[in-house]
Amino acid sequence: RRPLTILAFESSADDTCAAVLTSTRKILSNVVIKQHEVHESWGGIHPAAAVMAHQRNMPIAAKRALTEAGLDISQVDGIAFTRGPGIGGCLGVSCNAAKTLAAVHNKPVVGVHHMQAHALTPLLTSWPDVPSFPFLTFLVSGGHTLLVLAESLTSFKIIATTRDESIGRTFDKVSRMLELSWDGIGPGAALERFCAGPEQGSLPDGFYPFPRPMPGQLAFSYASLHSHVERYLHFNGGIESVSLPSKLAIARSFQLAAFSQLEDKLLLALQWCANKSLDVRHLVVSGGVASNTLLRERLNACLKNAPTPLSVIFPPPSLCTDNAVMIAWASMHRFLAHDYDDYSINPRAKWSI
Ligand code: KG4
Ligand code: ZN
Repeated sequence: RRPLTILAFESSADDTCAAVLTSTRKILSNVVIKQHEVHESWGGIHPAAAVMAHQRNMPIAAKRALTEAGLDISQVDGIAFTRGPGIGGCLGVSCNAAKTLAAVHNKPVVGVHHMQAHALTPLLTSWPDVPSFPFLTFLVSGGHTLLVLAESLTSFKIIATTRDESIGRTFDKVSRMLELSWDGIGPGAALERFCAGPEQGSLPDGFYPFPRPMPGQLAFSYASLHSHVERYLHFNGGIESVSLPSKLAIARSFQLAAFSQLEDKLLLALQWCANKSLDVRHLVVSGGVASNTLLRERLNACLKNAPTPLSVIFPPPSLCTDNAVMIAWASMHRFLAHDYDDYSINPRAKWSI
């Protein structure tokens, strides 16, 4: 049969995204309009400012996605959008854009779960060596810290989640506390760049010990790590009094502690799978934090010593952070099965995977 061509929109947090993908896995366009400069002065995503920026940028992103794909809207077979979870007002922008275009042009529409889309990305990007179900997935982003067992395209079991804050949000807060410049790349990537930075020569000997929260439990805690940095700065007279080498040491120690916690819980999860006699062979790591190079190295090293052989799959960094290609991809099995949503479908800000 003729391949499908899907136009997709994503605006669940602070990126305005539109993309065109075919059912034969051809990415015809992938437009991402960032809003870092809108939010830098707030130190995090400001919801009302994000909604306004999405409203400004969505028509531009949609038009550009079609132009770059060399297509007219009439040549598109369906329109997908992120239904949730995310910031309510932000989700509404994609939802309305998708439904209105679809209704006017008589196209089917499908609403997609954002975290499922992150989890399913490797089935697109690692083709033909794709992970087989069931596989483990780390979803590490600004909104979530989840360790999930993906059982099928539509069935996901949460093995561990965070008790407080997400890993990405903690990177954002620590980056802000250390007064790093976001510089158009965003707070998490700015922290990674600072840790790897040209100041490497001035690296002090010591690393600061960080807590390893909830040992033996399948649960994450990141608020304790950010409080740790806060206390360090407080007892050292504030960020203005901290020397560059010390700032570098605390940043690097934080980054390592954030990833050690993922390693600890991964080893517990492997034990959990073994106890249930699950034949799990792949670990997929996705979400914005998965674009971090140190995380990639650490997980690869950690799994070399794992009791069961497991291969780690990271989507390319540009498809780890939010994008609409993953939304189009996660909608594809539904378009192929003619399983569409109504034009009356609403966003779901809170929506478990
Ligand atoms: O998946 P994503 O683009 O959006 C959400 O769904 O949240 O993830 C964004 C998060 C932010 O917290 C951002 O600071 C973090 O991912 N992030 C990183 C890196 N790049 C993005 N964290 C650590 N290292 C990075 N290189
Ligand atoms: Zn995301």
